[in-house]
Amino acid sequence: MRLLFRVGAWPRRLYIFRMTGRGQSIVIIGFMGTGKSSTGKALARKTGLPRLDTDEIVSSGFGLEVMEVFARFGEEKFRDAESEALGRLSKAGPAIIVTGGGIVLRPENVKMLRELGRVVSLEADEETLFRRISQRATRPLLQTEDPRATLVELLRARAPLYREAADVRVDTSRLTHEEVADAVLKSIEKL
Ligand code: S3P
Repeated sequence: MRLLFRVGAWPRRLYIFRMTGRGQSIVIIGFMGTGKSSTGKALARKTGLPRLDTDEIVSSGFGLEVMEVFARFGEEKFRDAESEALGRLSKAGPAIIVTGGGIVLRPENVKMLRELGRVVSLEADEETLFRRISQRATRPLLQTEDPRATLVELLRARAPLYREAADVRVDTSRLTHEEVADAVLKSIEKL
């Protein structure tokens, strides 16, 4: 069992070595509720790479939760801080980079994401997204009278942006975080 694990782990180690040798990161994009944060944690564990999360960087820069940043300073200020955080990541070396759902809204962000490494778009069907998102009231953009309609509207506007920015796409609707992380590594290996 142990031996099997070790043998199986080698191709992946080799691949990660080759990838990081070129200074490349794995960049996770996708709509709210697609599982970016949990997948990022699983990927960091599996690859041994550090995990950097633009929401966390922005939040700690303001000393406030994302929700509070939106409430006090507005979306534009949040987006400025998000772009700035992304710009600084380029100097951080290979990592698992987790982004907020709106990162693809600015074309200059997409350019930076693609320069950082392989861009992975996580996706899920509308029903799954709504179920996951409804579990926590931490998304400022969905604090509306009809969150489901807002989700549909945002998703329709953004889906092409995620698609265009991505090297690979993974549907997370019916997978565990571990399975998503494995699927991500497998699809990157094929590139
Ligand atoms: C946003 C998604 C959030 C966070 C902010 C804006 C968006 O991140 O960056 O609330 O515009 O989709 P998650 O995708 O991690 O929820």
